[in-house]
Amino acid sequence: MIRLEVRDLHKRFGGLHVLKGVTFSVNGPELIGLIGPNGAGKTTLTNVLDGAIKPNGGTVYLNGERIDQLQPYEVARVGLGRTFQVTRLFRRMTVLENLYVPALARGGHHRASETRSKATSVLEFLTMEHLRNEYAQALSGGQQKLLELGRLLMLDPDVVILDEPFAGVHPRLMEIIYEYIRRVNGDGKAIIIISHQMDSIFSLSQRLLVLDYGNLIADGPPDEVKRDPAVIEAYLGTEADESSGDASSGAVSSDNAPVGNASSGGVPPSNASPDEETAAS
Ligand SMILES: Nc1ncnc2c1ncn2[C@@H]1O[C@H](COP(=O)(O)OP(=O)(O)OP(=O)(O)O)[C@@H](O)[C@H]1O
Ligand SMILES: [Mg+2]
Repeated sequence: MIRLEVRDLHKRFGGLHVLKGVTFSVNGPELIGLIGPNGAGKTTLTNVLDGAIKPNGGTVYLNGERIDQLQPYEVARVGLGRTFQVTRLFRRMTVLENLYVPALARGGHHRASETRSKATSVLEFLTMEHLRNEYAQALSGGQQKLLELGRLLMLDPDVVILDEPFAGVHPRLMEIIYEYIRRVNGDGKAIIIISHQMDSIFSLSQRLLVLDYGNLIADGPPDEVKRDPAVIEAYLGTEADESSGDASSGAVSSDNAPVGNASSGGVPPSNASPDEETAAS
């Protein structure tokens, strides 16, 4: 059975203590929402879990294997994959090439013909067959998010972390992302969804984790977490009663709005490196 064990995780950036002893575990094909205010440490937690940055303390085990000192490609092999808040694709490669890269990086004895037919079915699922030979940089922001999901589908990890998958995504593509989540979870995989879009989070999640300035202040069923005074105080405010809107900004925004609002759809304040692989949405 899938088991992710996160124990007493600490991360500091200089004097800034961003993760302050985060502990939780994922057991089996759970569908978990991870929420919290801007700067709470959600993306940093994801970066530690996927091996992009090393923690200052604590451990992470995936299916019994310690992964907190591994490189991202090694973590991917053990079975954890993620998408990025600001999409990271090979912008000057085609859609199809972007799908091949993770399969090649994984190595093993997969035949090229298998990889090709898998990529074809992934593109079909994403309704992106017609874009197969387009450069990634030519895609819309939402299509780029789908392509990141496609890369995950090529690898089929046991645990998937989606960092703001709905931000700035057209409603039609949003449906595909929902379908992706249902399908992958239905296949027995665990999914952690980070989002400020409360409609989506509350309708999808079976369990909610709430991070507040590096502390995990709640972990439980959404209905309980929604009523938790500490969570209301730290993040949800009074709008939680309607379980709608974008809690990070306090503005009421619907998941059906064509684009995300500035706080969830824009460039995050800190960890967006404007490098070559960072695509504008
Ligand atoms: N590489 C870094 N160097 C220094 N500080 C960083 C770095 N990455 C993140 N931080 C800081 O760590 C804190 C947590 O940031 P993080 O991006 O993890 O928050 P978040 O919960 O994902 O927020 P958001 O909802 O806005 O995406 C912030 O204060 C941020 O400025
Ligand atoms: Mg973030």
